[in-house]
Parts: sequence; C-alpha cells; structure tokens
Amino acid sequence: MRIYCEKDYNAMSRRAAAIIAAQVVSKPDCVLGLATGSTPIGAYQQLVKWYQQGDLSFAQVRSVNLDEYVGLAPTHDQSYRYFMQHNLFDHVDIVPENTNVPSGLAPDAGLECARYEDVVKALGYADLQLLGLGRNGHIGFNEPCDHFPVATHLVDLTQSTIEANARFFASADDVPKQALTMGIGTIMRARSILVVASGADKADAVAKTVAGPVTPEVPASILQLHPNVTIIGDEAALSGLK
Ligand code: F6R
Repeated sequence: MRIYCEKDYNAMSRRAAAIIAAQVVSKPDCVLGLATGSTPIGAYQQLVKWYQQGDLSFAQVRSVNLDEYVGLAPTHDQSYRYFMQHNLFDHVDIVPENTNVPSGLAPDAGLECARYEDVVKALGYADLQLLGLGRNGHIGFNEPCDHFPVATHLVDLTQSTIEANARFFASADDVPKQALTMGIGTIMRARSILVVASGADKADAVAKTVAGPVTPEVPASILQLHPNVTIIGDEAALSGLK
C-alpha cells in the first residue's frame, strides 16, 4: 500500500484528482470505477477544472459506479446517478452511454445485480477504482458482516451507515434502507485502487484498514491483499496510524 498524508481536504482532493487524471492520460479508454459520498467531491471538482482548461478529456473513458440506493429514481437528488451527473458527468465530455450506475428502480434487485456484474465484467473490470471509506470500514456498501460478498448484491444498510447518510436527507427515516453494491470481489478485480479519506471520524477505519487484521468485520481491511492500493488521507484521517 502507498499512503499519502496531505495537510487538508483540498490537498487530498488534488492528489487524488492527479492520480485519476494520470490514469486517463495514460489510457484514454480506461475503465474508471467511481464512488459517491462527500469525500471525492473535491477530486471531481479538480477534474472538471482540468477538463475546462483543456488539459483532460473523458471522451473515451468508460465508468462503473460502486453502488446505488434501492428505490431512488436517477432524478432523485440523493440518488447516486444524480450525484454523478451533478458532480462530474454533466461537466465533462464523457459519453453518457459509457457511464454505468446500478439501477435503484429495477423491479427485481437480484436480476439487476447480475446484470450490473456482467456489465463490469464485460468492461474487463476497473483500471482504477476510487473508494471512499465508511466510518465502520465499509467500501461501496459492503457493510461489516461475517464474510466478504463476492459479486454485486443487494444489502441492508447498517444503522451506523443510515445515520451517517442522514445528513443528506430530511431525516434518518428518509434514508433508503437498502442498496445495490459491487461486491468485494468486483472491487478487488480492479487493477488499481485509490482510497480517499478525510476527517477525524475516519481515523479508526483507516487504521484498521491499513494495520488491523484482514476481516469481513472491517471490509476495507481486504485491501491489504491487493497488490496496487493507494490511500490518500488528510492528517486527521491518518491520525490513527503510527
Ligand atoms: C459511495 C460509497 C460509500 C462511501 C462511504 C464514505 O459510493 O460507496 O462507501 O464512499 O460511505 O462516504 P463519505 O465520503 O460521504 O464519508
């Protein structure tokens, strides 16, 4: 694992954006695995800036997102499809048909998971997978449990995740209780993985990810077994590391 400690959120975002941009420049038709949540927003803003300056093009990029809430339409302002449109896709030259997010409205979640897994597989999995980190060590919506789920699947969100995400909704009751997420196997097949973490509330999860035992109780701990992982955190998020 390579670990970069940046002084604050802006520096973290800039370095993350630089690594994503390097991937796009070196392989213009790469498959980017993308994440939502508050942590990657600064990196997406930086990528948009470089695109606007003419320094970066997403014209050939294909993208696969990690996850989506069950029951939210793509137009719902808390859906992950909406997030991606609003924070990145609408502002760069990525071809809409080349962007993939699981459908939260599919009538049969099991079929949608199988379809999505096939999409990611047909693309050859991600060249670079961007990940945020849950306070409980989740990646995608792979919550702590007794095994590492392999493929894209339906999950019941834990109370801690519902409470963490309630800040984006009118109340915790409005947070969807289920999501579709790439599995740990889907994520681990990415050729490189970039984790971004910001703030003291991630310090414990970062420490367990980097130096704790590999256990499905801390899903991100499996990244210790991946050959090409970069973690970029600000000082607060890395404060639990020696
Ligand atoms: C988002 C995702 C989640 C978030 C995680 C951290 O697509 O899969 O795992 O990355 O919950 O969220 P933030 O960045 O909001 O702290």
